Amino acid sequence: MKKANFLFILLALAAMNSMAQTKKTVSAEQAKMNAFISGLMAKMTVDEKIGQLNLVTGGEATTGSTVSTDVEAKIAKGSVGGIFSMTTPEKIRKTQEVAMKSRLKIPLIFGQDVIHGYKTTFPIPLALAASWDLPMIQNSARIAATEASADGINWTFSPMVDISRDARWGRISEGSGEDTFLGSEIAKVMVKGYQGDDLKKINTIMACVKHFALYGAAESGRDYNTTDMSLDRMYNDYLPPYKAALDAGAGSIMVSFNDINGVPATANKWLLTDLLRKQWGFDGFVVSDYTGVSELIEHGLGDLQTVSAKSLNAGNDMDMVSEGFLTTLKKSLQEGKVTLAQINNSCRLILEAKYKLGLFEDPYRHCNDERAKNEILTPANLKAAREAATQSFVLLKNDNKTLPLKKSGTIALVGPLANTRANMPGTWSVNADLVNTPSLLEGLQNVAGNKVKIVHALGANLTADATLQTHSTMFGRDIPRDNRPEEEIIEEAVKIAKNADVVVAALGESSEMSGESSSRTDIGIPETQKKLLAALLKTGKPVVLVLFTGRPLAIKWESENVPAILNVWFGGIQSANAIGDVLFGDVNPSGKLPVTFPQNVGQVPIYYSHKNTGRPLAEGKWFTKFRSNYLDVSNDPLYPFGYGLSYTTFGYSDIKLSSNTLTKGKSITATVTVTNNGAVEGKEVVQLYTRDLVGSSTRPVKELKGFQKISLKAGESKEVSFTISENDLKFYNSDLKYIAEPGDFKLFIGANSHDVKESAFTLK
Ligand code: BGC
Repeated sequence: MKKANFLFILLALAAMNSMAQTKKTVSAEQAKMNAFISGLMAKMTVDEKIGQLNLVTGGEATTGSTVSTDVEAKIAKGSVGGIFSMTTPEKIRKTQEVAMKSRLKIPLIFGQDVIHGYKTTFPIPLALAASWDLPMIQNSARIAATEASADGINWTFSPMVDISRDARWGRISEGSGEDTFLGSEIAKVMVKGYQGDDLKKINTIMACVKHFALYGAAESGRDYNTTDMSLDRMYNDYLPPYKAALDAGAGSIMVSFNDINGVPATANKWLLTDLLRKQWGFDGFVVSDYTGVSELIEHGLGDLQTVSAKSLNAGNDMDMVSEGFLTTLKKSLQEGKVTLAQINNSCRLILEAKYKLGLFEDPYRHCNDERAKNEILTPANLKAAREAATQSFVLLKNDNKTLPLKKSGTIALVGPLANTRANMPGTWSVNADLVNTPSLLEGLQNVAGNKVKIVHALGANLTADATLQTHSTMFGRDIPRDNRPEEEIIEEAVKIAKNADVVVAALGESSEMSGESSSRTDIGIPETQKKLLAALLKTGKPVVLVLFTGRPLAIKWESENVPAILNVWFGGIQSANAIGDVLFGDVNPSGKLPVTFPQNVGQVPIYYSHKNTGRPLAEGKWFTKFRSNYLDVSNDPLYPFGYGLSYTTFGYSDIKLSSNTLTKGKSITATVTVTNNGAVEGKEVVQLYTRDLVGSSTRPVKELKGFQKISLKAGESKEVSFTISENDLKFYNSDLKYIAEPGDFKLFIGANSHDVKESAFTLK
């Protein structure tokens, strides 16, 4: 064994010992399940057992060039354990009926990427995270589960909890951003929302945490790329959200595509067995990602038989689409390359999931046409989606009180994203209705009332390059394109802008410019749109930039020149109405960035909880020779983590600490008074950070440890208190022991990771 690997395992084992291993006692319900499954497995042939490990696609949404074939025949033979990407009670019932005619009548499990809502599409996950509203996020998952289960689905490939600090990575849109604490809190409530307190209830579905692990740290932000990471960063920053989701009871976990320190996750025994099973005690099932098993061939690990055996041996239970398990595991068993015990173990875990979902009692439990008719896209669900979207928008700038807009006069609405319905729901919304979702133009008209005249022009194409636009509008997410010369298209918009009272420019990314396989090296607003913006500003009219994006964008020029910027991400199928609600001031924006916005792409990865280095740059400085900085740009972010404005302003008092000494086993309280100093009611996300000043290993300059979203009427003050105990100060040290080290700490409370009040205490 290589020395590095040996060290790695030793450290992992040490971490294992430091985590309390809970001894499992078997409940009566579990004993019943075990007996049932043992009885069933006693009747199963090896082929049937391997069949359970095979997950095929129903073909409604595919994310690779391989698609499943002869599905019905395979089901009839008992060669399929589950199907994903198939919807409606009718189709699912028909397919389940085939399974019910197979020799042992083992029900299929039906999966789907229900990512941010089902048909009632909520804001993309990064946007939901920007709400910092945990009950609301949980409710979005609850509604998604109700709708998906009403449409035949038992299992969702969500939540996606990959921490990402790289805005180039397109899938940063699918997660909760850069922060471990916020990401973990969201991971928990998403699982609770999907699974409820009982998976046998008719409206709950099983969660599948993804992508395990470290997928968000792909080198250069290029999707599917290699990840190479220290154990310090892994344990302290990237792994906790997966663990949080599993501790919240997630029934399954999906393996990521990436290579981790030399071993792709899909074949990584340390990851899937030592960490996941032995250290964390996970007892649900593991599924590969789409063709993750056969991709091990390209990774350079061998032929299909070899990689399939490696993947099973590593701890992967289910093979999504590759059919490597189905076609080679029996041979590997005969050749002694895998054991029957391993096949049995994986088969059992998958059968257990079906049992927990109640599928053995009623394989058609989610096939109810009445539910499909009555429980999807209900007015209540649409209302929840609209409210969620309003909570997710982040007001980045609002000079001269440009916003809110008046409900009178003429508004020129321009930009390639103003009049498209298909672009509104956001990436990974395979069930969204792209035809009947209101466009921004329609949403503004809905909210504005009859005293406002809204005039519209395209103003610019999404990108000047037609091919890039095609790549950025796949899956039917069309955006109108005008083939006239750029200047002519801009001129038309400038003309209507000149006759308007205010200009709303709907610019940024298309929904498919982020998401899977949508990495970018230029994270700005496309050049042709920027030219439009510059021309609009020249008119002298107030300009509001409604910024669509699935990632932090480098918008330094825009932030210096445009008076008002509302970042709306992609807000789901109600986003147009929600943008109207916020632009016209019916709702006061309260979102806060769950991810740092850089000044330029060269600063990426940039995140607030970085280490100090031995040569930190002094606060407020741009460049000092021999300090850790850049020649051409300061170290500051454009907008820090946690940042977001409101139509009102909030004042923070100094911090009151109940004591400056925190004794192990006890707690202290930190309190601030927050005051709404403006004229309108608003919500504020009050954030608590700490800094461990001296450690046995280096510690971040700030770490989020708590937050509270409060609502304050104009002029109102509220006390906000946080309790801090030793547990909040724990981290994995260089021996991977999870400990809090006595010593001095700073404590910060404020409106974002930068603007904070400061205090200090000592852990004794
Ligand atoms: C994605 C997963 C998704 C799966 C199934 C893959 O390409 O990485 O996030 O769940 O496809 O659709």
